[in-house]
Amino acid sequence: MAKMEVKTSLLDDMIGVGDMVLLEPLNEDSFINNLKKRFDHNEVYTYIGSVVISINPYRSLPIYTPEKVEEYRNRNFYELSPHIFALSDEAYRSLRDQDKDQCILITGESGAGKTEASKLVMSYVAAVCGKGAEVNQVKEQLLQSNPVLEAFGNAKTMRNDNSSRFGKYMDIEFDFKGDPLGGVISNYLLEKSRVVKQPRGERNFHIFYQILSGASEEFLCKLKLERDFSRYNYLGLDSARVNGVDDAANFRTVRNAMQIVGFMDHETQSVFEVVAAVLKLGNIEFKPESRANGLDESKIKDKNELKEICELTGIDQSVLERAFSFRTVEAKQEKVSTTLNVAQAYYARDALAKNLYSRLFSWLVTRINESIKAQTKVRKKVMGVLDIYGFEIFEDNSFEQFIINYCNEKLQQIFIELTLKEEQEEYIREGIEWTHIEYFNNAIICDLIENNQTGILAMLDEECLRPGTVTDDTFLEKLNQVCATHQHFESRMSKCSRFLNDTSLPHSCFRIQHYAGKVMYQVEGFVDKNNDLLYRDLSQAMWKANHSLIKALFPEGNPAKINLKRPPTAGSQFKASVATLMKNLQTKNPNYIRCIKPNDKKAAHIFNEALVCHQIRYLGLLENVRVRRAGYAFRQPYEPCLERYKMLCKQTWPHWRGPARAGVEVLFNELRIPEEEFSFGRSKIFIRNPRTLFKLEDLRKQRLEDLATLIGKIYRGWKCRTHFLLMKKCQVVIASWYRRYSQQKKYQKIKSSAITVQSYIRGWKARKLLRELKHLKRCNEAATVIAAYWHGTQARRELRRLKDEARNKHAIAVIWAFWLGYKVRREYRKFFRANAGRKIYEFTLQRIMQKYFLEMKNKMPSLSPIDKNWPARPYLFLESTHKELKRIFHLWRCKKYRDQFTDQQKLIYEEKLEASELFKDKKALYPASVGQPFQGAYLEISENPKYKKLKDAVDEKIIIAEVVNKINRANGKAASRIFLLTKNNVLLADQKSGTIKSEVPLGDVTKVSMSSQNDGFFAVHLKEGSEAASKGDFLLSSDHLIEMATKLYRTTLSQTKQKLNIEISDEFLVQFKQDKVCVKFIQGSQKNGNIPTCKRKNNRLLEVAVP
Ligand SMILES: Nc1ncnc2c1ncn2[C@@H]1O[C@H](COP(=O)(O)OP(=O)(O)OP(=O)(O)O)[C@@H](O)[C@H]1O
Ligand SMILES: [Mg+2]
Repeated sequence: MAKMEVKTSLLDDMIGVGDMVLLEPLNEDSFINNLKKRFDHNEVYTYIGSVVISINPYRSLPIYTPEKVEEYRNRNFYELSPHIFALSDEAYRSLRDQDKDQCILITGESGAGKTEASKLVMSYVAAVCGKGAEVNQVKEQLLQSNPVLEAFGNAKTMRNDNSSRFGKYMDIEFDFKGDPLGGVISNYLLEKSRVVKQPRGERNFHIFYQILSGASEEFLCKLKLERDFSRYNYLGLDSARVNGVDDAANFRTVRNAMQIVGFMDHETQSVFEVVAAVLKLGNIEFKPESRANGLDESKIKDKNELKEICELTGIDQSVLERAFSFRTVEAKQEKVSTTLNVAQAYYARDALAKNLYSRLFSWLVTRINESIKAQTKVRKKVMGVLDIYGFEIFEDNSFEQFIINYCNEKLQQIFIELTLKEEQEEYIREGIEWTHIEYFNNAIICDLIENNQTGILAMLDEECLRPGTVTDDTFLEKLNQVCATHQHFESRMSKCSRFLNDTSLPHSCFRIQHYAGKVMYQVEGFVDKNNDLLYRDLSQAMWKANHSLIKALFPEGNPAKINLKRPPTAGSQFKASVATLMKNLQTKNPNYIRCIKPNDKKAAHIFNEALVCHQIRYLGLLENVRVRRAGYAFRQPYEPCLERYKMLCKQTWPHWRGPARAGVEVLFNELRIPEEEFSFGRSKIFIRNPRTLFKLEDLRKQRLEDLATLIGKIYRGWKCRTHFLLMKKCQVVIASWYRRYSQQKKYQKIKSSAITVQSYIRGWKARKLLRELKHLKRCNEAATVIAAYWHGTQARRELRRLKDEARNKHAIAVIWAFWLGYKVRREYRKFFRANAGRKIYEFTLQRIMQKYFLEMKNKMPSLSPIDKNWPARPYLFLESTHKELKRIFHLWRCKKYRDQFTDQQKLIYEEKLEASELFKDKKALYPASVGQPFQGAYLEISENPKYKKLKDAVDEKIIIAEVVNKINRANGKAASRIFLLTKNNVLLADQKSGTIKSEVPLGDVTKVSMSSQNDGFFAVHLKEGSEAASKGDFLLSSDHLIEMATKLYRTTLSQTKQKLNIEISDEFLVQFKQDKVCVKFIQGSQKNGNIPTCKRKNNRLLEVAVP
């Protein structure tokens, strides 16, 4: 879902007033109260029009998060509460979208938060501008230039633990898309005096402490330094450590930043060597030495330090030593050397240290610029950020304060110029009549300082260049002469008698009425500081150094380029650079950030009104508001104005259809706002007094409350209505469902009752019908019975009648026949013999019999003894004859059949007959044997050469030769044996070898036992005491048991004339050696198919399981 654009305004939820232009009444107290109120509510930013006042909160507020960046991104300046991001966004967007170069001027006193503000601006711009590897590298380099410059240019002071001791102006360059390309940094006036001397409670530049704390032992040794701060005269000892500052960690940050910015390793090394040399210079001490010619001379106390410096910097020790002892003045090809006394030597030493350091700092800036400069020549858009000291008003103000205040005076001038210009341009653009604005133009003060002929700086330069004795006093005298009549110049000694009695103005001071207040300057040191002298001997010694960086820092030391002209003074240099800066700023659209320090304690939550008041004064903030408010205090494009106040008038609420301007006109007329209070521009409405705006705001607030109530009312109504409708809908649905449910229930009840009633009725009807039907049926049956009885009666009656009739008829016929017979017999008696009747009977019988036999001849069945057919009997009286004839015929045809048999066949059938007699209906195996022809010699002993030995051993005729299984008595397992039956013997031989194992004469066989079941087991019992019986009875099994038993029986019968006892029983005893073992046949499972299994159960029992 797209994020809903919420239209807000600076005027929403304002604490105090967000824009001082709207302050009513406008005076110092209300101004300070407003700032305080906002500060107490953590609102550290307040606007004066487009100027941002920033009060240092001295604690980290959660208002610089990425979310805040997003909040302020692409929003109008007055849309959200005042913030430095709003200014940054405005500046960045008009740079990117309107192609206007921008500058952001950050001023304020030390510790007011200028440097932090400049970093916030840079980080905001970095966050919102383009992204990508290259762009990010540029951003990173620009951002990382800060820690490097801060390490070398910042120091702890009484007012700020991280005070910038130089002015900085940085141009950030962008391409047409708004992506950063690079930057250029300019530095102003490094406070180099800090190198050699720091006020109490303050420190030297951070870098000295950072090296000593953070560098490794090895690196320190290389730089010939010791970690102990107290070893160095240039390091103020009383506050060498700063609370909350980790110098060692910062040293690592600086080295890392230098690497990111692009410093080569050897460059970094050289930089630290110079820093080390400066530090060690402070340790060189001089002692006085009187010379013969009476001149004072100085001598270096301990040359060790000097030696180390020379080793570090590659300077010839004697050259440097000399440079500390002599001063050569060259004038018109004349060189005059004078010796330096101790004070001069110290002065020279300190001058060298200061110069070395300040030049190193400038070199660093140049080097950084080299790294961060844009790599392309295309036209660039520029955003300048100026972080420069604000007005300084101390008790003792010196040359530095003079220079700084001059710079601020120039900045104020440019502010007035640009603001008024902008204002004027806007009025012209909007077609509003230009009203003259009364304001204080500080051009006159600038002129007092910078005028080329009569300006204070020009005077100072003149004094410095003037031959003869020049002191600060002569300079003040000159000022007193030249500037005496200037309105803003005050001096006790001036010709102007106004200040003759002003005791607050010492004689050695002059006072300037700056736009921000009066400042009194001590003239002492002006000339010296302006001269900024470094003896040529020293610069030449430096140039001779075997150290490329130091050599490069002192180009004027090159004798080939010797320049007798004096170098430009500090004042003129500064004036020139300020002029360049102003020129630069004038081409850009200015954005102001005015920083205010709330207290001197560097503490959060404390708002020292006197201190703030002081700053407001010298920052000229009231003046700022007045300039801003000169014409109209407030202006706003018609659309947002109408949007904001349209609820105040019926015609414009809720929608105005028509041009926004017309809407605003209607609105203002309706509200009866006095005409002089506003003006209609082309695109904006201009409101003269904040009062009017506040009146509008109050009305709006009131109206909003009403509207909120209305909206709340409507919303609640709507909510209740929707809720009600929803409930109603629900109720209808529920009711309909309930009705449906209850009707369903009711219907089901009715239905089931109906079904019950129906079933009762149906039952009743059915029973009724059944009763009727039963009655009907009974009636029918009764009728039938009656009818049947009636018919029966009728029939019987009829039968009786017919019977009677038939009897009568029969009787008549019989009587008639008897009568006829009698008549015939009586008639024919005379013609027949007495036995004729019997003869006729016989004859008839004969004829019938004849006919019967003749017919039987043709109906004879086949001759097969098994043909059961026989013709039907023709006459009852032939019953017995017919049966007898059938029997005779069957016997006859059996005879016929038998007559066809050969002797062999006869023998076979005899055997079969014998078998039948022995086993039929006794042994279950028998029926299967009926169809099998008895072959006897299953093994062809005589033909098969394998059995030659056996054949040779048996000379009798073999009746049976067959393989049987001899059951092992011990375990019931079977072993194959050849079973031979000859006329006289039973033989058992080994199947493989044919060797005879046992031979039993038939006379010794007493009995054969077998079961009644379908198995081939049989036992051959031997006569007790016979030779063969010594080994015990045989228990054998054969597939041809019936045949073998039959043949054994027949052979025994024919040989011994005794019938062999064949015992058929399912349990019999067998003699095994001495023991009698019972062989028992039981019903077994069909696990092994149909094969019976034999198992020795115990000593006395052998069990045969027959399936
Ligand atoms: N917006 C801020 N939020 C939190 N702390 C701040 C903010 N601005 C400044 N400070 C605190 O105030 C201290 C001083 O700020 P800063 O160094 O920017 O002052 P300055 O105006 O640059 O002073 P100088 O002129 O001495 O350089 C910072 O070190 C920081 O602790
Ligand atoms: Mg600073």
